[in-house]
Parts: sequence; C-alpha cells; structure tokens
Amino acid sequence: ERAYTIDVIAGDGIGTEVVPAAIKCIDQVARCEGFTVDWRHRDWGSERYRKDGAMMPADGLEQLADGDGIFLGAVGAPDIPDHVTLWGLLIPIRREFLQYVNLRPVRLLPGIEPRVRDAGNFDIVVVRENVEGEYSEIGGRAYRGRPEEMAFQQALFTREGVTRVAKYAAELAASRTGRLVSATKSNGIIHSMPFWDEVVSEVATSAGVTLEPVLIDALAARTVLRPQSLDVVVASNLFGDILSDLVAAVAGSIGVAPSANLNPPGDYPSMFEPVHGSAPDIAGQGIANPVGQLWAGAMMLEHLGEARAAQRLTAGFEKALADGIRTRDLGGSADTHDFTAAVLERLS
Ligand code: NAD
Ligand code: IPM
Ligand code: MN
Repeated sequence: ERAYTIDVIAGDGIGTEVVPAAIKCIDQVARCEGFTVDWRHRDWGSERYRKDGAMMPADGLEQLADGDGIFLGAVGAPDIPDHVTLWGLLIPIRREFLQYVNLRPVRLLPGIEPRVRDAGNFDIVVVRENVEGEYSEIGGRAYRGRPEEMAFQQALFTREGVTRVAKYAAELAASRTGRLVSATKSNGIIHSMPFWDEVVSEVATSAGVTLEPVLIDALAARTVLRPQSLDVVVASNLFGDILSDLVAAVAGSIGVAPSANLNPPGDYPSMFEPVHGSAPDIAGQGIANPVGQLWAGAMMLEHLGEARAAQRLTAGFEKALADGIRTRDLGGSADTHDFTAAVLERLS
C-alpha cells in the first residue's frame, strides 16, 4: 500500500483552522484512491516561542529532512515581531531546503466573480524566486533611537540562482502557451535587474519560449486591467510576493491562492502552504476560507505522484464553490466548517 509521511506545521492564527480542515479532506481522498498519509504533527510556532523562546526545536530542520513533504498553515502573531517568527521558522525551511521555486498558480474558480471587469477566464502562474534577491541576509541597523539611526538591505542575485528559477519558469511556459513574462525594473538605477534580465533572456532563448520583460509597476496595473493577457510570470522574491497577493485578489480573495515551495532536484522536502498569512484580524472566529490550504494540499498530492487524488480534491472544492457555497471573503456566508463539510460531501 502507498503511504506518505507528511510533516504538518499548522502554525499560527487561521493556520490552526484551515490546516485541520484540509487534512480531513486529504484523508478522505486518500481513502478513495487507496493510499495513506502519516501526518507528523509539529507544535511549532508562536505558542511554542512564548513558552520556550524558540519557534521550533534546535534540530527542527533535521526532523523534517526525511519526510515526503511539509504542509504548513501560516506563521505570524501580532504580539511577536515578524522578523522573529519568520526567521525562526518559515524562512529557514525555504532556504535550508533550497526551495528556490515558489510556485503560485491562480485561476478564476467556478462561481466566483472576479474583482475586475473584463478579467476573462484567466489562469496565471507566478514563479517566484524563493531563496535570494531582495530577501537576502545582508543588511543591518545601527544607531537605534538616535538621530543618526539607519537601516540597510542588500539584494543579492547569483547567476545560478536566477538561471535555475528562470529555467523552471521557461519549461513551465513551454508546456503551456509558450509565453513567459518576466517582472523587472531595469529602467531605473537598480543594478540587479539588468542582470536578472540578461540571465532570464539567455534561458528563455535556449528554452525556445517567447519572453516579454515587463516593468513591475506596469505589470501590477496590467494584472488588474488585463489579467487574461498573462500566463507564466517569473519574478524575483519581493516582486513575486507582491504580485501573487495581487493576482489572488483579482481572482476574488487572497484566501484562495496556494503556494508550493519546491526544491526541483528533490534532494530536500518541498513545502506546501497557502499564499495568505495568519490573518490575526479574523483568527479564532472560524470564518477563514480554507480554499488556499486545500489547493496547496492538491499541489502536494500532485507532487507526491497522486495526480488522481489531486484532481479529486480540486474538483471537490470547485464543486462546492460552483454550488454557491462560499466563505465571507468571497461574499458568501459559510464558515470554515460549513465549507469543509460541503467539500467532504463532494469528494467521493
Ligand atoms: P494575511 O494574509 O494574514 O491577511 C490579509 C487580509 O486577508 C486580512 O484581512 C485577512 O483577514 C484576509 N485573509 C487572509 N487569508 C484569509 C482567508 N483564508 N480567509 C479569509 N480572509 C483571509 O496578511 P497580513 O495581515 O499582512 O499578515 C498577518 C501575519 O501573517 C503577519 O504576521 C505576517 O507576517 C504573516 N504572514 C505569514 C505568511 C506565511 O506564513 N506564509 C504569509 C503572509 C503573511
Ligand atoms: C509569503 C509571505 C512571506 C514572504 C512573509 C511572511 C515572510 O508574505 O509567503 O508570501 O514574504 O515570503
Ligand atoms: Mn506574501
């Protein structure tokens, strides 16, 4: 019998609400498709930090290394600085496991009105660079609290880092429409972006895809005005972060968007999570939209080689949406439990 070991980090806020919902649905599709998932629940996150002063155990990454994947909810709590929670858990996983591709697909789901007119039937995949760029560890602060106070942050792009993410994006584009958009900012005084452009262009040429570099500011506007004109978009860490929330919002809500943090050679485990965060403004109310977490679960099943299970899960939440069952962020009145129950009913 096929069996997978998945580490679960529900984390903080609504992560603790949408992760159990998604696990119920994944267990149900696993029963239908004849495999099992052994969930290794990890109580890592802000609650642990308040007790022990650490987001995860010192050997946390080693504990994850032999699993088949990581299923994460969200990290972040209003009473702890974000740089503490994020550098204590989420970012080390992405970086130490060299999850250099952050794949963030969004398309218009059934029964959901797009937030913009003329959105067409768009289907966009943001391929976000996930371990370098603007999110480098090079930076600092000095003279805290004095008039001389300063802060700086260095962006770091390597040829290898840009090449590998561009290659992934170009191959994905080749398997879809053959068109690749690259988010850039090479018109200004930023030194790194002309380099990004050169490397992406070399990769696109050898992959035989049509490359269109678009300045990030114009690309943001185009995402709202003509989302149907976009297919695969490759972007640096920060640009991809911002763009992925924007695309999700155009599709209805940031609550629907999934994210796969991949280490393509597969030397390390990959991590699957929604695009959204811990949403402290609605946490504890049971009203969070579980679709982003469910869709992330479908990406995880696909990654495990369980394509039929992934399709079954996707069809389950799509049918619930098509039948008019929607959470509040999508204009409906269902809570997390109602929506999850509706998906469960539609899975078998
Ligand atoms: P957020 O994504 O948590 O929330 C932004 C807005 O979207 C809020 O109004 C929230 O209620 C709403 N929203 C988000 N997900 C929703 C869902 N599933 N259903 C319904 N509504 C939803 O972003 P934020 O408020 O900027 O950040 C909150 C915390 O989460 C911060 O600590 C931040 O650092 C962290 N964060 C973590 C991750 C992650 O773990 N990967 C991602 C983004 C933000
Ligand atoms: C995301 C989040 C994270 C990011 C934060 C919480 C560090 O916004 O996963 O999109 O910027 O990568
Ligand atoms: Mn983000």
